[in-house]
Amino acid sequence: MTDTPSLTDAYDLKTPQDSVRLYADWADTYDTGFAQDHGYILHEHVARAYVNAGGFQPVLDVGAGTGLCGQALRNRGLDEIVATDISQEMLDIAEAKGLYQRLFCGDILAGLDETDGAYAGLVSSGTFTHGHVGAEALDELMRLVRSGGVLCISINAEHFKSHGFADKLAQLEPLSQSIDLSELPIYSAKATGDHAKDVGIIAVIRKA
Ligand SMILES: C[S@@+](CC[C@H](N)C(=O)[O-])C[C@H]1O[C@@H](n2cnc3c(N)ncnc32)[C@H](O)[C@@H]1O
Repeated sequence: MTDTPSLTDAYDLKTPQDSVRLYADWADTYDTGFAQDHGYILHEHVARAYVNAGGFQPVLDVGAGTGLCGQALRNRGLDEIVATDISQEMLDIAEAKGLYQRLFCGDILAGLDETDGAYAGLVSSGTFTHGHVGAEALDELMRLVRSGGVLCISINAEHFKSHGFADKLAQLEPLSQSIDLSELPIYSAKATGDHAKDVGIIAVIRKA
């Protein structure tokens, strides 16, 4: 790909390897050309919801990308944060910011080489969306969090409806103390363009 990737390109991805290719091209301009210019704020909602739910540490940031959610957690006082992403190029940008204790490349759909219950909690912003990661990854996310821990995950609201998230969350109920859903804007009120009004569902799951 020679042109700078767009949100439309990202939503059209089909496979994890497509993500690896697209984000290799997008890493350098993601923070300014995408997040800043489009008024992306989802990571702030996720970090706030996680801290409000207890802010347990260590916390794993899944699909951490360039570290926007990690920065939002740091801004709220957390400092035991680990990042994982399928794109080494995105993680390289995050690493340069010095936000994370550790960063590692991995495909959440294939499973991560981490022990059961390794984390007190987990966040993910912007990764459960069109062309990226579906509800099938929630089992792996639950495995990584210890009993009593919290998962705070954003899910694009259209993706939520079309990819069976309600059914998957119902399956996870017996493994959870509580599952709370709230709807929040993905972009700021000043955003313009086709996706400016897109909504994210923030799922806060407290593991039994
Ligand atoms: C829209 S970006 C969000 C990045 C960051 N969390 C944020 O809010 O800015 C989606 C991220 O998910 C990552 N990703 C896509 N598929 C993945 C997979 N199967 N496993 C892990 N990460 C994945 C991409 O590489 C990309 O960094």
